[in-house]
Amino acid sequence: MFDKKEAKYRQVNRFVELLSDVYHNLPKDGTLTVCDLCCGKSYLTFAVYYFLTKLRGRSVKMYGVDLKPDVIEYCDKIAKKLSCEGLHFVCGDISSFKTEGSPDLVVSLHACDTATDIVLAYAVKNRAKVILSTPCCHHEMNKAMHCRELEFIEKHSILKQKFCDAATDALRALRLESEGYAVEAIELIDPEDTPKNVMIRAVRQDKIMPGKRENAAAKYKKICEFLGVCPTLDRLLSHD
Ligand SMILES: C[S@@+](CC[C@H](N)C(=O)[O-])C[C@H]1O[C@@H](n2cnc3c(N)ncnc32)[C@H](O)[C@@H]1O
Repeated sequence: MFDKKEAKYRQVNRFVELLSDVYHNLPKDGTLTVCDLCCGKSYLTFAVYYFLTKLRGRSVKMYGVDLKPDVIEYCDKIAKKLSCEGLHFVCGDISSFKTEGSPDLVVSLHACDTATDIVLAYAVKNRAKVILSTPCCHHEMNKAMHCRELEFIEKHSILKQKFCDAATDALRALRLESEGYAVEAIELIDPEDTPKNVMIRAVRQDKIMPGKRENAAAKYKKICEFLGVCPTLDRLLSHD
């Protein structure tokens, strides 16, 4: 029988493994500022907290943010019970969330639809060094796409959805590249665990080859025009 709790455990475990691979990009000294946006019940928040504080011996200022007051209250209680120093839970919309100073690391697991774009825009605007985000459902492009050349896909709704899922995440990756990040799209977990199994992993580059960002931006614009879409991530990053 499929056990949802075990599946979540595997997803969180793998998420932390994928974080561990890029840990060396985070600042070597001092307190790390970390955000888990759309944290929900915060399994990931606690796992990342454990990884950084206990396994890597770091001091952290970590924030789990979610809209749900009951869930946030519960997570806050657990954090206090476990004496998780530096771990805070904030109830609110991630669109208006702010930290003191830049976050070093922004993580997010299954932020719904365009909430993932809000997560990515927050991370970019605040110059996060490392971003790990596994998107959830994708609705925006499916509703907005209009492309005569792709009608042969659009006429099959299941294929259109699969195409839009992939194109949305590939465009997110390209938009992050245009902001100076090195980006990979990685399989988080076996699709039998969850079909929402793509991780976008991005590391802000200190040195970038001349023209690389501009090339990515030009490619991004061209593809959006071709698909007839204006993704939320672009709108959030283009307007302050
Ligand atoms: C599918 S759940 C994922 C929760 C958790 N990260 C996990 O993997 O178990 C998505 C969460 O995003 C939260 N959420 C969606 N939009 C949000 C927003 N704009 N600001 C804050 N939280 C939001 C919801 O309340 C919900 O708890």
